[in-house]
Amino acid sequence: MKSITEIGAAVVGTGFIGVVHVEALRRHGVQVHGVVGSSLERATTKSRQLGLPPAYKSFEAMLADPRVDVVHITSPNHLHYTHAKAVLAAGKHVVCEKPLAMTSSESAELVELAEATGRVHAVNFNIRFYPLCQHLHGLVAEGGLGEVRLVSGHYLQDWLLLDTDWNWRLEPELGGDLRAVADIGSHWMDLTTFLTGKRITAVMADLTTFIKVRHQPAGPVETFATERHAKTVAREIHTEDTATILLRYEDGVRGALTVSQISAGRKNSLRVEIDGAESAAAWTSEQPDELWIGHRGRPNELLPRDASLMNAEGSRAAFLPGGHIEGFADTFRALYAAVYRSVAAGKPGEGYPTFADGHDEMLVCEAVARSAKEGRWVDVERAKRQAGARSAR
Ligand SMILES: NC(=O)c1ccc[n+]([C@@H]2O[C@H](COP(=O)([O-])OP(=O)(O)OC[C@H]3O[C@@H](n4cnc5c(N)ncnc54)[C@H](O)[C@@H]3O)[C@@H](O)[C@H]2O)c1
Repeated sequence: MKSITEIGAAVVGTGFIGVVHVEALRRHGVQVHGVVGSSLERATTKSRQLGLPPAYKSFEAMLADPRVDVVHITSPNHLHYTHAKAVLAAGKHVVCEKPLAMTSSESAELVELAEATGRVHAVNFNIRFYPLCQHLHGLVAEGGLGEVRLVSGHYLQDWLLLDTDWNWRLEPELGGDLRAVADIGSHWMDLTTFLTGKRITAVMADLTTFIKVRHQPAGPVETFATERHAKTVAREIHTEDTATILLRYEDGVRGALTVSQISAGRKNSLRVEIDGAESAAAWTSEQPDELWIGHRGRPNELLPRDASLMNAEGSRAAFLPGGHIEGFADTFRALYAAVYRSVAAGKPGEGYPTFADGHDEMLVCEAVARSAKEGRWVDVERAKRQAGARSAR
C-alpha cells in the first residue's frame, strides 16, 4: 500500500478543467510530474504558470514515465477513448473526464479493458462530491425521504448565449453529436441516478438549436473565455442549445430536466429536487452549502454543510468547518480522496464513479438523441453490458 504522497500523476489537457485537476491533486500531496497539451509551447507556458515541472514533449513520453501511476484525461471529448485506451494499455490507473467516449461502443470497450487490466478507473462526475449531495445520497438510501417518486430540475449556463460565442464543443467531430446534454445534462442525470440509486430506463427528449449560425474565431478559444475576436468564420450549427427531457427511472420514479447553455445570467446553475412519499429535498450548485428539506406537516428545514450536522457520507466529503463555503474545486478534492484510496491500494474500490457509470451515461445520452430524432419515448438499451457494469454507487 502506497501513501498518497508517493503516488505520481500526470494530466492530459491544460485547459479550464485540467488546471482544476492539477490543483486538487496537489491539495492531496500527489506528485504531479507534468502535463501534456495540444502543443508543447502551450503546455510549457501552462506548466510555468502552475509551477509544475517541464511539460511532457508528447502523450507517449508521459506514458513512458515510470513515475506516473495515474493519468488524468482532460482533453476534448473526441480524444478520451484513444487516450484512456493507451493509458490502460500502459498499465496505469486512469481518471477520465466526461463524457467517457464519443459512442457507447467505445465506452463499452473501455469498461471491458479497464476491468481486464485491474487498474483503477474513474469518470470525473465531480458534482456527486458536493458534501450535501453525499449527505443526500445517504439520506435517500436510508429512506429519509420515504419512497422516491419525482425528480425535477435543470442545468443552465449562459456562456454560449451569443452567436459570437465559440468553443470546440460546438463541433460534433470534437464534442459529439449531442452538445448541451452530453456536456452538462450528463452531470444532472448522473447526479440524480446517484442520489436516488435508480438508473434511467427511458427518455422523451426535445432538443433545439436556436442559434443556427455562429461566428468562429480564427484562433483557439479556451472554455468560458469571453473576449471577442476580430476575424471570424460563419459556421452552421446543428447541436442543441437547449433540451427538455422527461425521464423514467427504475421502480417507477419519474423525472423532468431542462438543459440550456443559452440562459442569460445563469453562469453554472444545476438544481435538483427530489420528492419522496414523506419528505422532499432540493439542492442547487449556486448555493452549494445549503440543503432544503421539505415537509408536509412540520416546518421545512435548511441544513448547512456542517460536518457535525451531516451524516457520515456528507462529513467525509467536507473539508472546511460549516459557514466557510466550499465549492466546485473542492468537489475534485473529495472525489480524488475516494479514487486515490483505491490507487494507494493498487486496485479498484468503492465510493467513486467508474467507467461503468461513464458507459451508462453514454447509453442514456444515446437514448436522448434517438428520442429527439424520432419524436418518441426511447428505452435506454443496456443489452450491450447489462448488470455486470454496475458501479460502486
Ligand atoms: N467535470 C466537470 O465539471 C468538467 C468541466 C469542464 C470540462 N469538463 C470536461 O473536460 C474536458 C476538457 O474541457 P475543458 O473545458 O477543460 O476544455 P478546454 O478547451 O478549456 O481544454 C482542453 C485542453 O485539451 C488540450 N488538448 C487538445 N488536444 C490535445 C491533445 N491531442 N493532447 C493533449 N491535450 C490536448 C487543449 O490544449 C486544452 O488545453 C471535456 O471533455 C469536458 O467535457 C468537465
